[in-house]
Amino acid sequence: MKKVLAIVLALVMIFSFAACGKKDETKTYKVGVSIYQFDDNFMTLYRNELESYMKSLETDSVKYDITIVDGKNDMATQSEQIDTFITQNVDVIILNLVQTSSAEALVKKVVDAGIPLILINREPAAENMTNNPTVCYVGADARQSGTYQGEIVVGLDNHGDVNGDGTVSYIMIEGDPENTDAQYRTEYSIKALTDAGIKVECLTDQVGNWKQEKGEEITASALAQYGEKIEVVFCNNDAMALGAAAAISAAGRTVGKDIYLLGVDALQECQDMVKAGTMTGTVLNDHVGQSHKAVDAAIKALNGEALDNWYWVDYVKIQ
Ligand code: GAL
Repeated sequence: MKKVLAIVLALVMIFSFAACGKKDETKTYKVGVSIYQFDDNFMTLYRNELESYMKSLETDSVKYDITIVDGKNDMATQSEQIDTFITQNVDVIILNLVQTSSAEALVKKVVDAGIPLILINREPAAENMTNNPTVCYVGADARQSGTYQGEIVVGLDNHGDVNGDGTVSYIMIEGDPENTDAQYRTEYSIKALTDAGIKVECLTDQVGNWKQEKGEEITASALAQYGEKIEVVFCNNDAMALGAAAAISAAGRTVGKDIYLLGVDALQECQDMVKAGTMTGTVLNDHVGQSHKAVDAAIKALNGEALDNWYWVDYVKIQ
């Protein structure tokens, strides 16, 4: 009887050890993600890819409990979301800032809470990052995307000078002007033309805040005002270019024949349009490469490894 009891006890101990061991083996990390605005074509692709890629990296012993919230393009809302992530003691934060001018305050908050921070998509000023191995930015250099847009025009037989008057007359539709993507794309697209010795004239430069309906509205009224004078429509992103394309065809103009249209992002729809000739060119803003790099950095931080401050992903010309 004693023997049986001893065996039973031993078995109970073995099983409970095994059970404990198993419990300890699974680690669930809490990941807080705040996106500047869900209602944005490009950032929607980005956030979906980010979540599915991170989930695909789960193993039997490592799980990611990912919470993604909508900053609703409102800095106060986003700041509260970060406070909530801190209170919830998340293990890492991935942040697409509403305003890069708030980077300093938010970085400080998160660093003080001892939580690693991966900034994405909206490049913060360099001084927010220096020498901090728990904070990084993952993005693409917007200068490159602007340059590529301009180079596509330079590469056209007439260099964008439809009416042959020696000057390329264009309109510029900008994203959020607080954002370096908008600033650099606006500047570097035109710089590529002037660097190639091409004379340019800006007919109008307006803010469309990355939105399709704004792109359409601005292009429609510019076409009504300047008519055939407009030879090139530069849009800081594809959503606005889709709007511009609608306004261009509504005005009876034909892309590739009497006007040119450029965007950035390479949304599938726009890649199809470039192939069909209804859009002159776009630039691939690699949401897959960027979201994967952001997740890889987050996992590095979760493993206690030091981060570089900057991780870059290349743009690709689509024409
Ligand atoms: C840009 C992208 C835009 C918009 C913006 C948001 O990189 O080209 O379409 O998503 O980010 O910050």
